[in-house]
Amino acid sequence: MAELRRELLADLRGEVVEVGAGNGLNFAHYPPAVTRVFAVEPEPYLRDLAAKAARRAPVPITVLPGRAERLPLEDGAADAAVLCLVLCSIADRPRALTELRRVVRAGGTLRFLEHCIADSPGLRRVQRLVDATVWPLLVGGCHTATDPVTDIAEHGFTITTVRKLRFPDQRISTPATPHVLGAARAG
Ligand SMILES: C[S@@+](CC[C@H](N)C(=O)[O-])C[C@H]1O[C@@H](n2cnc3c(N)ncnc32)[C@H](O)[C@@H]1O
Repeated sequence: MAELRRELLADLRGEVVEVGAGNGLNFAHYPPAVTRVFAVEPEPYLRDLAAKAARRAPVPITVLPGRAERLPLEDGAADAAVLCLVLCSIADRPRALTELRRVVRAGGTLRFLEHCIADSPGLRRVQRLVDATVWPLLVGGCHTATDPVTDIAEHGFTITTVRKLRFPDQRISTPATPHVLGAARAG
């Protein structure tokens, strides 16, 4: 995952908002042209860990309380946004993406690394079954049969690159194996 995180963040610059930053696992991978990261995390325990990770990070990082649905930033405040393994846990994805589009300036960038709905009908059926039963309860509200690329494209972003990948890349798939890594432009 560290390699994917590096690829996700490569060549970013300026002010960046990272939504649902968790304990800050991305922080070590921000490139030097990033002048500030606003890392928004709703969960207090994870936010404390993120604040500690921010102190060791190679770029300035401000860890903020908040939720994707109501970001604590001005309109157009960010040159770029990062969504990493977070959209699946957000109940109101349309609202969160509309809010993200509000805080990213026109022409700014969105980078995303998310797990997603499977291509194969068999795994899709499994995803829908686990989503309706145990998965959200066991994995912090996460749903596996989500389509982040379509969701992003329907909320003011133009997809510029998408790469499908499997993580972990093992022979047997879990409901959370299919991933997409990509970028989009705001406006
Ligand atoms: C699977 S973790 C990923 C953490 C981090 N992005 C990473 O790559 O390691 C999902 C994160 O999304 C956060 N989250 C859940 N619902 C959220 C919401 N509505 N707004 C913002 N973050 C949310 C959780 O608190 C958690 O930190």
